[in-house]
Amino acid sequence: MTKRRKWTAIPGLLALGVGAVMLSAYSGASSSQGRGPAQPVAFPHPKHAGAVKDGGLAMNCLYCHNTASKSSDVGMPAVSTCMGCHTAVLGATPAGKTEIAKLTKYYTDKKPVPWERIHKVPDYVHFPHVRHVNAGVTCQTCHGDVQKMDRVYQYASLNMGWCINCHVNGYDPKEGQKAAGLDAVPPANYAGGAPYGTPGTRAGIPTTGAGMIPGAITRPADSSAASAANATPSSERRRARYDCASCHY
Ligand code: HEC
Ligand code: HEC
Ligand code: HEC
Ligand code: HEC
Ligand code: HEC
Repeated sequence: MTKRRKWTAIPGLLALGVGAVMLSAYSGASSSQGRGPAQPVAFPHPKHAGAVKDGGLAMNCLYCHNTASKSSDVGMPAVSTCMGCHTAVLGATPAGKTEIAKLTKYYTDKKPVPWERIHKVPDYVHFPHVRHVNAGVTCQTCHGDVQKMDRVYQYASLNMGWCINCHVNGYDPKEGQKAAGLDAVPPANYAGGAPYGTPGTRAGIPTTGAGMIPGAITRPADSSAASAANATPSSERRRARYDCASCHY
């Protein structure tokens, strides 16, 4: 083999290597799909975000994850958000009381609850929640029916093929509403600003006045972006960029 031919083989080998790595990323060989670790406080989504007919409070996801509509990271609620209710709601069962006592201890110790992170993409991936939420992609499309999960688990693979599949084929907000399993009929006291079932909102929590628990619920002012009138459902399929730089800086 001449020196020249040896060098021309390198790009070929490189391409092969990158190809193999991409294939593994695309199919998610390293995916932790299905993982649902125990949490320091056994927080039940169904009781809070579940539909009223299922015995839940139908709270808007954004009440607690309230940076989802405006920042890249979605964030966890501060303990004080919980204590707005749990200074009064002390738990129905002995097991429930134990969990609320744990929560109260974090509060009095002025410590955040060390929630175990479940969904995570590698640091070299750029994932802006805000772009998705504002485009009407409902939380449930990517996270499953969290409002019915006693313990949250990773619903989607979060691998590259999963992202690109939706970006290429597009997304119909109507699919999102279906995925969200929104009640077809608004609860009796629904007084939300957006039409009931607007993508990006978990309808059912009044935006004005007293909430489901009198005096306890006031929506944070900064959580209204996704429920603004301009987030009205459209039947248009939304496609998104899928060039490498859009997700890998
Ligand atoms: C809008 C009021 C409200 C907020 C805010 C709220 N909760 Fe609750 N929570 C409730 C109600 C009501 C129940 C149901 C209690 C029952 O079943 O009697 C409940 C139940 C619970 C339970 C189960 C207790 C049991 O008896 O089974 C836990 C644990 C809990 N909440 C933790 C939290 C945490 C952690 C936060 C903050 C991230 C939070 N809650 C925020 C109202 C609230
Ligand atoms: C009362 C506050 C509250 C509401 C309302 C709420 N959540 Fe949560 N959420 C939490 C807390 C606390 C955790 C961390 C504990 C756990 O995983 O259960 C959490 C965890 C999660 C996680 C996992 C985060 C991770 O580490 O990857 C997802 C996804 C999620 N919530 C989605 C939702 C969706 C979707 C809704 C609306 C249907 C919703 N949440 C409503 C408080 C809330
Ligand atoms: C297009 C898919 C998609 C949609 C829509 C989506 N998420 Fe996520 N979510 C993700 C991915 C991917 C991650 C991991 C992000 C990372 O590691 O930076 C994540 C992470 C999270 C986390 C943990 C991150 C943290 O800050 O602790 C929570 C909580 C969460 N999402 C809640 C929500 C809620 C609530 C909604 C709806 C308002 C929502 N997500 C909509 C894909 C999505
Ligand atoms: C269910 C469909 C869906 C999935 C899954 C999804 N996206 Fe998106 N993505 C969208 C839509 C819709 C938009 C918004 C396009 C717009 O604003 O017009 C978007 C926008 C984006 C943008 C902004 C692009 C730009 O034009 O600047 C980035 C970055 C992005 N997504 C990354 C990801 C990553 C990373 C994943 C996987 C972890 C992912 N997305 C999964 C539907 C999806
Ligand atoms: C829509 C978002 C998106 C686009 C566009 C995208 N990627 Fe990715 N990429 C991801 C995600 C998410 C991961 C992490 C996958 C995982 O953890 O399994 C990833 C991982 C990778 C990895 C690491 C594989 C590994 O196993 O370590 C490489 C290499 C890669 N992408 C290359 C590319 C190239 C080249 C392009 C352009 C042709 C591209 N990506 C376009 C979302 C994207």
